[in-house]
Amino acid sequence: MHEGLASDTAHLTARARAADAVVEPGRRLLDDRFAHLFVTDPPPPATAEEAMTRLRALDGAHGGFLAEILLRQRYFEDVLHRAVADGVRQVVLLGAGYDSTALRNPDLDGVRFFEVDHPSTQKAKVELLGRAGAETPSVTYVPVDFEAGSSLNDELAAAGYDASQRSVVGWLGVSFFLRAESFQRTLEDLAGGSAPGSLLVFDYMDEAVVDGTTPYEGALEMARKVGAQGEPYINGLTPQTASEAAERAGYRTVDRARVTDLVRRYGGDDPYCSDDDFMGLITAERL
Ligand SMILES: C[S@@+](CC[C@H](N)C(=O)[O-])C[C@H]1O[C@@H](n2cnc3c(N)ncnc32)[C@H](O)[C@@H]1O
Repeated sequence: MHEGLASDTAHLTARARAADAVVEPGRRLLDDRFAHLFVTDPPPPATAEEAMTRLRALDGAHGGFLAEILLRQRYFEDVLHRAVADGVRQVVLLGAGYDSTALRNPDLDGVRFFEVDHPSTQKAKVELLGRAGAETPSVTYVPVDFEAGSSLNDELAAAGYDASQRSVVGWLGVSFFLRAESFQRTLEDLAGGSAPGSLLVFDYMDEAVVDGTTPYEGALEMARKVGAQGEPYINGLTPQTASEAAERAGYRTVDRARVTDLVRRYGGDDPYCSDDDFMGLITAERL
């Protein structure tokens, strides 16, 4: 992240979501009708055809990313809806970027969202929402830099989060940008403020992308691109080490999904996106 500037990769994911929302209805992977609020340059596509052309170009150059960016959100929201049906009323989004879960789910009665993000990205998001006149009464914004060493739990508690009650936490598209020790410290901090039965969903990038040995050229090309923009992938994991990191912090793994699983579950009968498999998700439960 560049000091004082909003995350470029958060904007990249918002661009993909905004384009997906313009694709013809049966082929949309996520359908985030608020993503366009966050997309400034270039503007979102005007037609379904233009949207599909842009998405296919992204998918062709960097197979697997489109599926991960759009479908991890579907996966998370399935976990979220099950947790809410089970009585959970607190949702924490770590590194929320331009996530619109709260806006898209106004029917989640009595659910409080805590959006934690780097102060620069969060400031940009709140300004864009204000400019659009979009209100997010169920959201409390909590600016935190995971690299700065401040206590996530203290910040959440000050914002009204109740550590004695269960929560569901989404940490999507962030782990690979953090130093390994900051990632682990944040996990442990989070575990300390999560009541037993709380759920955490996070995604990870294969170690082989970070160390350059993956066979997926499109992933390496994306790694070079985001690195050049100042947001390098520096923390690679494997399905095993991702689970171990959560387990060291006091969680047990309850589900795993790779890009191929996401495409199979959510991509529809005839998915147009590639399932190059260099990322994965873990759902973990606080013991
Ligand atoms: C690729 S975006 C993902 C955004 C969103 N979760 C999504 O899935 O679209 C990465 C996010 O991580 C956040 N981030 C990166 N480094 C951070 C740090 N040190 N502290 C807090 N947030 C950070 C950025 O601000 C950005 O919102």
